[in-house]
Amino acid sequence: MIKIISPSILSADFGNLQAMTEMINASEADWLHFDVMDGVFVPNISFGFPVMEAVKRHCTKMLDVHIMIVHPEKYVQRFARAGAGMLSFHYEAAENPQQVIDLIRAEGIKAGITINPDVPVSVLEPFIDKVDMVLLMTVFAGYGGQKFIEESYSRIDVLKDMILRKNPDCLIQVDGGITLENASKLFKHGVNVLVAGSTVFNAPDPLKMIVDLKNA
Ligand code: DX5
Ligand code: ZN
Repeated sequence: MIKIISPSILSADFGNLQAMTEMINASEADWLHFDVMDGVFVPNISFGFPVMEAVKRHCTKMLDVHIMIVHPEKYVQRFARAGAGMLSFHYEAAENPQQVIDLIRAEGIKAGITINPDVPVSVLEPFIDKVDMVLLMTVFAGYGGQKFIEESYSRIDVLKDMILRKNPDCLIQVDGGITLENASKLFKHGVNVLVAGSTVFNAPDPLKMIVDLKNA
């Protein structure tokens, strides 16, 4: 089973982004998760292209970019050119999700689709065989450091069932409130990719935490 750890740079020390990125390079992490928030789709603003390009200059891991923005179709090309290897957009924010997937594909990068905890998993059915990954939010998008929503396990089970029927290669990513306590249960439910922000960057030893999450 594929197990991927994608630390979220949102919880890093932004005054030391180069050092933080180099720490991830030296770690067992597979990807680096990059959260873009626009203050419209979510009530918070994080960072955009210049910061992403700066991180990309130092980053040897794949940039796993999660865009929490309205009109994702307008920015696909710029995110791809700024160095995204995977680009995940919110279903709720897209007028035409298939168009966004097609635009991502046209850039030759991996496509992910994501939903907040209040959106039924069934809305993803038409897109499951068109994407490389589904990102199931396990908190409401907008802030790091929130508590994992326990109801997420049954949503993962519904999604896993759909993926096995329609596109077994599609990865499941979870994002929000991931800790050493819930990581192994998430893997058991068939999750492939754990995003972890505060759990990694607030750990006394982030390198060890990444290894521990991977072996959970
Ligand atoms: C929240 C972001 C997450 C965030 C997770 O909207 O999408 O990626 O960084 O942070 P933690 O792991 O602290 O819940
Ligand atoms: Zn995220």
